[in-house]
Amino acid sequence: MSNYQTFEYDVLVIGAGGAGLRAAIEASAAGVKVGLICKSLLGKAHTVMAEGGIAAALANVDDRDNWRVHFSDTMRGGQYVNNWRMAELHAKEAPARVRELEAWGAVFDRTPDGRILQRNFGGHRYPRLAHVGDRTGLEMIRTLQDHGIHQGIDVYMEHTIVTLLKDGDRVAGAFGYDRERGRFKVFKAKAIVLATGGVGRAYKITSNSWEYTGDGHSLAYHAGAELIDMEYVQFHPTGMIWPPSVMGILVTEGVRGEGGILLNNKGERFMFASIPELYRAQTADNPEEGWRYTQGDKNSKRPPELLTRDHVSRCIMDEVKNGRGSPHGGVFLDIAWIKEKLPNAAEHIKKKLPSMYHQFMQLANLDITQQPMEVGPTTHYMMGGVRVDGETQMSNVPGLFAAGEVAAGLHGANRLGGNSLSDLLVFGKRAGEFAAKFAQDQKPGGVDDREIETAAREAVSAFDRAVNGNNGEGPYQVQYDLQNLMHNLVGIVRREGEMVQALEGLGKLWERAGKVAVPGHREYNPGWHTAIDLKNLLTVSEAITRAAIERKESRGGHFRDDFPSKDATEGKVSIVIEKGTDGSMQVRREAIPDMPPELKQVIEEMK
Ligand code: FUM
Repeated sequence: MSNYQTFEYDVLVIGAGGAGLRAAIEASAAGVKVGLICKSLLGKAHTVMAEGGIAAALANVDDRDNWRVHFSDTMRGGQYVNNWRMAELHAKEAPARVRELEAWGAVFDRTPDGRILQRNFGGHRYPRLAHVGDRTGLEMIRTLQDHGIHQGIDVYMEHTIVTLLKDGDRVAGAFGYDRERGRFKVFKAKAIVLATGGVGRAYKITSNSWEYTGDGHSLAYHAGAELIDMEYVQFHPTGMIWPPSVMGILVTEGVRGEGGILLNNKGERFMFASIPELYRAQTADNPEEGWRYTQGDKNSKRPPELLTRDHVSRCIMDEVKNGRGSPHGGVFLDIAWIKEKLPNAAEHIKKKLPSMYHQFMQLANLDITQQPMEVGPTTHYMMGGVRVDGETQMSNVPGLFAAGEVAAGLHGANRLGGNSLSDLLVFGKRAGEFAAKFAQDQKPGGVDDREIETAAREAVSAFDRAVNGNNGEGPYQVQYDLQNLMHNLVGIVRREGEMVQALEGLGKLWERAGKVAVPGHREYNPGWHTAIDLKNLLTVSEAITRAAIERKESRGGHFRDDFPSKDATEGKVSIVIEKGTDGSMQVRREAIPDMPPELKQVIEEMK
């Protein structure tokens, strides 16, 4: 046996955002031994970037809401390529998960009669987002963390997993290192839940922080799991683009939910000019009606700023392309204008959007109660990921589960804002429950020393190259070039020729990544960590590019200039990515299973 510190668990959860914490809590409650790995410190997760709220059909603000409307909104937002079973479970179970969170101590804003307050968000027919100001993700993490630490879960902070270990077909553990000292560790486990979040760091402008390098997507892929929907990347329409001190930082959709409007350099509300047929019936065609809606008037229609993210992002890009953008290549988001309507507007904004107000005052000296923000699309979320069973969240690799952003299916081609927090709760719980059940039925698998040694050698190879006098390139330049390549060639608007060029570029980046050299030692060495992240970033970037070339239509987060419309035949298939026996990335198409008649009927009724 390799001489590395070794730990044994029934269930190992990799990733400690909302999905990972919820999975760990559930598995632990089932009585099995649980380990939880965080790449960063516990509580620091992209979950906190879902600021505006948790989508759940509680019907506290509009009693017409129910799971059927939420289900049909999610399917329509996802352009009907969602895993319909996941969308059904999500819509049905989200209210219970929110109430459970409340019972565990989560604080929410309240309606006048004391119920959880819900706000408007893009693509949701009724005010549906349970929230606390603009800090909902943070409150969710705080609550899960407080609850979780009393469950007897072993937490490994600042640990990175470099490979999953298998015994035959099934997963048997994971191998990684602690970032502080660089010590290798073996985690044996009967079941593993991946909850590593997204891939935003593959792009130049992103709301994701340094941890989000596609680790879970890549670990799963290299362990033989299938990935689907990798072409669907979500660009949140309102990331800050100026000043540089706040570039990429998210401006919550809650700003638009509270009445914020989008303007071009002529002062026009350009979103009125482009309302898709699918949403025409519920979208206001005049500003007054849209404003009334955000103030809770049930008889009015939603403002066009609350259309789905894919659409709003593309409209912003159109304004910029046609010379109507802001000075730094975006548009203006204005919440200050509501002072025309509300006498106490500044206080109202500070109360409803406290983080937005403070963050931009402190980081950019920008007072959003008085001035508009300059915003543009920022890479925010990955709809694609590990293909899982809708009920259990298990992948095609026995014992390997995935939940949250790293798992695909629920959101189809485009996620509705707020559906991520409910996704983390609903499917985090399910993954934990079924991983625990799986573990209870299994004997521990064996781990192979040779596999571990190979992974260890690969992990330190960047040091070996520096030691051997090779003044090779550092990892940061490769990461930087990768982010630019993905931004320029596989971004919001895609073309076949550019994506083929991207694939060639990725080939060269793979070669460069294999030669990077890192000086120094293993104790808290960010250069080394980046060298290790490159494999994951390149794996997900290649998967995104190959899937995007394969899908010859435009749908949700995947827009092709050369195929600008939806195509009914393309809409019936998923693009599946898997590792071939020769180690190369394979792409295939698979028919999306037909929706059962009772769910089809729900969608028909909601139209
Ligand atoms: O805009 C936001 O608050 C983000 C929410 C989400 O991504 O779900």
